[in-house]
Amino acid sequence: MNSFAKITAQGSYVPEQIMDNHDFENIVDTSDEWIQQRTGIVERRITKEDEYTSDISYKAVLDLQEKYQVDLSDVDMIVNATLTADYKTPSVASYVQAKLELENAGAIDINAACAGFTYGLNIANGLITSGQNKKVLVIGAETLSKITDYKDRGTCILFGDGAGAFLVEYSEDETSFVASDAGSDGKKGHNLYCSELSEAMFDEALENPGFIVQNGRGVYKWAVGNVPRIIEQTLNKANYTKEDLDWFVPHSANARMIESICDKSGIARDKALKSLEYYGNTSSATIPLAIDLAVKENKIKKGDLVLLVGFGGGLAYASTLIKWTL
Ligand code: UT7
Repeated sequence: MNSFAKITAQGSYVPEQIMDNHDFENIVDTSDEWIQQRTGIVERRITKEDEYTSDISYKAVLDLQEKYQVDLSDVDMIVNATLTADYKTPSVASYVQAKLELENAGAIDINAACAGFTYGLNIANGLITSGQNKKVLVIGAETLSKITDYKDRGTCILFGDGAGAFLVEYSEDETSFVASDAGSDGKKGHNLYCSELSEAMFDEALENPGFIVQNGRGVYKWAVGNVPRIIEQTLNKANYTKEDLDWFVPHSANARMIESICDKSGIARDKALKSLEYYGNTSSATIPLAIDLAVKENKIKKGDLVLLVGFGGGLAYASTLIKWTL
């Protein structure tokens, strides 16, 4: 008997409060024009002070449940991708499990920064096809505003809060997962980090305890140099070419960067689905948010071949090539 993993529902949640580019003009030396030209971001969502990653993760799952009327009572694993957990422990996934009252579900968080959601999907595929689990919730959720230094114009204009969730289920006859790839360039990790308050692995971290520090140029160069290779490797694994792709969903960090990746890879720019314009860079949530928007706009259709590529802090990456099954 075959054992496949199939995506059966997707949902999202973003906080109500909007912070647009003009709001930043009052905080740091910047302009709407600079932000739009250099990043493509127009606005982003910000959580309330007492609203945490587990809260928005839970709401993304409720959205998924309401839209697709799926039964979640027998979910047996929750994988929460995040770098902004409410606490070091318990995990965000454990809080989500409690909020959903899923007594028989396992719960783990994974931290692969902006590659977290695609890692999570590949883990769900592995858990299901190996026979360990039958129903897995994969959530990408961040409250980056809580670890953003609003005095640093180079980073504060980039980040936002939001959550996206997929339900992945066992199937005897249909798979969503076609091919995947993953890797990391840990020697370049210093280009993007967030120290604990008491830790300082990198010298500069002492000056920025608890905030995201990024060498934007460094990450940009690495991504444009490496993501095209990751795209090709993933497609090759399944004997597909870029022409076969219906949609490309890269991590939504920067519109110019995505255009460069598309041009270098020979993928038409209008095949790239993004979430950054209205949500900014939401790390592990950018990919499910971009897909959620595309589903709402009736862009993605059942049977479409979609390549997801998450990349960022680590510097880690994970790709997954899927057949859209909704
Ligand atoms: O999500 C994880 C992965 N992260 C990424 O993929 C991020 C990739 N990198 C980027 O998106 C871009 O590098 C940034 C958007 C972060 C920065 O854009 P950039 O075009 O690389 O600008 P830059 O850092 O090279 O800075 C250019 C200039 C500098 O001024 P000088 O030295 O030329 O006088 C900056 O000080 O722009 C200045 N600048 C700003 N000016 C106005 C930096 N931030 C701002 C700002 N407003 N907010």
